[in-house]
Amino acid sequence: MFAGTTELGRMFYTYNSLAKATRSGARYLSTLQDVTASTCGSPQISCTTAAKNMVLCGNVNGCGGANQPPVILPNFTASNIGTPANPRLPYYEENQPDQSGYVANPQGASFVDGGVGTFLRQGHLLSQPSAVDQRWLKLAPDNQARMQVPTLRNVDKRPYPDFVKAYGHNGYFTSLKEIAHFYNTRDVLPRCKPHDAGEGTTCWPAPESTDNMNRSKVGNLGLSDAEEDALVAFMQTLTDGFLPREQP
Ligand code: HEM
Repeated sequence: MFAGTTELGRMFYTYNSLAKATRSGARYLSTLQDVTASTCGSPQISCTTAAKNMVLCGNVNGCGGANQPPVILPNFTASNIGTPANPRLPYYEENQPDQSGYVANPQGASFVDGGVGTFLRQGHLLSQPSAVDQRWLKLAPDNQARMQVPTLRNVDKRPYPDFVKAYGHNGYFTSLKEIAHFYNTRDVLPRCKPHDAGEGTTCWPAPESTDNMNRSKVGNLGLSDAEEDALVAFMQTLTDGFLPREQP
């Protein structure tokens, strides 16, 4: 009964997220004076359509039709997109007992987040003592370092305009442009050198883990800078209550 209710709730949530994304996206597109002013992809389509297709389908040409991939948003799977470790996290230094004797991170600086795989092995301190179904243990290797794919609903929502948001399981990315650029160039740009000024623009650090890393859908999207910006503009329409900018 509980599982049934949860599934029903999940179904409505999924439907709601999708409907919201679609409606907001459509509203956004319909407000553009000239959607063909800038074109993207090959064959050339409007950049906003290309952006919508990228978010929904993972490719600029669309999805759901013959010889096209299925819709991927929202996507309740788990995946490793290769997010780098975030050295700004105090967690890496929390390997000493606190005043209560609790050691948050016994592995210290060498900690690697194993995502769903570690959860299945009951390796995450904070998810214990919740019992994991022993029958799921065999799924752990295939899920190592995979993170739950988050909904993009409200992905740009913030309490005030200058508030810095953090994205990914460890908050490595601090803007939508940065994560869009990462999806686009993870496998194209060189590795950063220590303290590299180009980090996030002209180079990337190594992924936190390459276990089960997705190399087929993300890492080298071949997008232009304008197409990355269009992806960001589309994601900004996913904020609840989004209103199109005023027309001149
Ligand atoms: C170009 C299309 C895509 C865009 C614009 C996009 C955008 C995003 C954004 C903004 C986040 C951060 C959300 C947050 O932290 O709240 C995110 C996270 C994530 N996305 Fe995507 N995504 C795309 C495609 C994909 C695909 C194809 C996959 C699966 C293969 C995927 C899997 C994930 C996962 C697993 C995370 C969490 C990563 C982590 O926690 O380190 N995304 N995505």
